[in-house]
Amino acid sequence: MTTDSPAKKRLFLRSWGCQMNVYDSARMADVLAPLGYAPVDAPEGADMIILNTCHIREKATEKLFSELGRLRQLKQAKEAEGGEMVLAVAGCVAQAEGAEITARAPYVDIVLGPQSYHKLPEMVARAGRTGRAVVETDFPVEEKFDFLPENSAPQGVTAFLTIQEGCDKFCSFCVVPYTRGAEYSRSAEAVLAEARKLVGQGAREITLLGQNVNAWHGAPPEGGQGWHAEGLAGLLRALAEIPGLARLRYTTSHPRDMDAALIAAHRDIPAVMPFLHLPVQSGSDRVLEAMNRGHTAAEYLELVDRLRAARPDLALSTDIIVGHPGETEADHEATMALIRRVKFAQAFSFKYSPRPGTPAAGAPHRVDEATKDRRLQEVQALLRDQQAEFNASLTGQTVPVLFTGPGRQPGQLSGRTPWLQPVHVPGPLSLTGQIAPVFIRAGNPNSLAGELAQQEKTAA
Ligand code: 5AD
Ligand code: SF4
Repeated sequence: MTTDSPAKKRLFLRSWGCQMNVYDSARMADVLAPLGYAPVDAPEGADMIILNTCHIREKATEKLFSELGRLRQLKQAKEAEGGEMVLAVAGCVAQAEGAEITARAPYVDIVLGPQSYHKLPEMVARAGRTGRAVVETDFPVEEKFDFLPENSAPQGVTAFLTIQEGCDKFCSFCVVPYTRGAEYSRSAEAVLAEARKLVGQGAREITLLGQNVNAWHGAPPEGGQGWHAEGLAGLLRALAEIPGLARLRYTTSHPRDMDAALIAAHRDIPAVMPFLHLPVQSGSDRVLEAMNRGHTAAEYLELVDRLRAARPDLALSTDIIVGHPGETEADHEATMALIRRVKFAQAFSFKYSPRPGTPAAGAPHRVDEATKDRRLQEVQALLRDQQAEFNASLTGQTVPVLFTGPGRQPGQLSGRTPWLQPVHVPGPLSLTGQIAPVFIRAGNPNSLAGELAQQEKTAA
């Protein structure tokens, strides 16, 4: 990734938060490439630094300002030597706190929200001309995807593709509807074209991204009216036909948008992997209602049953928040009970943190920190056990592994199972990009270790 050619300008990108931010960072690098910027791995000596921020949980603003304080010194050192450094803050903190950033850190040159990345070249030029901070935090009517360049840096064997952005769900605790704006779906044509390009660059697995990915409702391709009625299921079907594209995933889904067609897609489309991230947030109906999630615990469980009926080997992952305002001990127990019932293969769990401007931030009956800490520990211990149990259950099985590149040890390959577990296998690098059966020797809590099963077959 590092390019040290002196003719190039050095671009350091730091990304916090979700996969969508990682994808956006790569797109920002693509937009800046024609201006001569090439990514480097460290901020020292960079000609431009972009901090791509995340606002979803705690202390994002403080983290940003302490990072900016450090970078200010690098910028000053560069200027003292007669050089220049463009310092930009992007992402959801930029969107939410634009004015505060320019007030508290006047040495920042560019502040841009998630919908403005395509305007970066123009903003860099304006910042150079005016010497003042350039701020873009509107939600422009023209969509950024239409303005992003055709050329993009290859992502490798596993690639991300943003198909949808924003959210209209307004969960009580969440800033996304305010920072990423209303739901927007890219057209099927645009998604299919980008997928074909990714496959041409070597991708075998594509993960479709969106804050509410299963609410995708982009414009159909010409002649595709029929399948378009199926929403994401139709899109998955069309993507699965791309030669060379072996695996499809999508994240993050809302339980309310998990419709019958999409459930059937897990049964009918072999490329759709048997792994689904389906955040539940809480197992208590009272809390789910306070969160404005639009479903009960029983409805979530019923959905899980329908998914597993369609695809018996489906593994589930989730997000849990402990300590939402008003959460009692009984509510917490209901969450623990739901987790026990579903048996998640993987999960993320968080302490509730108030996000300014969201309904829950002003709600009464806050849960004290010590209680939140204890509940989080209980939830995490249970989830850790479930993940370890799931990984251990694969020991002794032979599973198809997509090899993504070299492993940590020499002579070792890294790959992933259909259930998104990392696997380490001794084998030749030439297998990168291929799917081969692997005998799992050990299912460790965070990864699997195995050996190529083909050799055994040929020996037999
Ligand atoms: N506090 C704690 N966790 C949150 N999340 C979103 N907002 C908050 C918040 N205010 C979690 C949710 C969501 C995940 C991406 O982050 O679980 O699904
Ligand atoms: Fe946030 Fe809820 Fe939308 Fe997810 S569904 S992005 S948690 S508002």
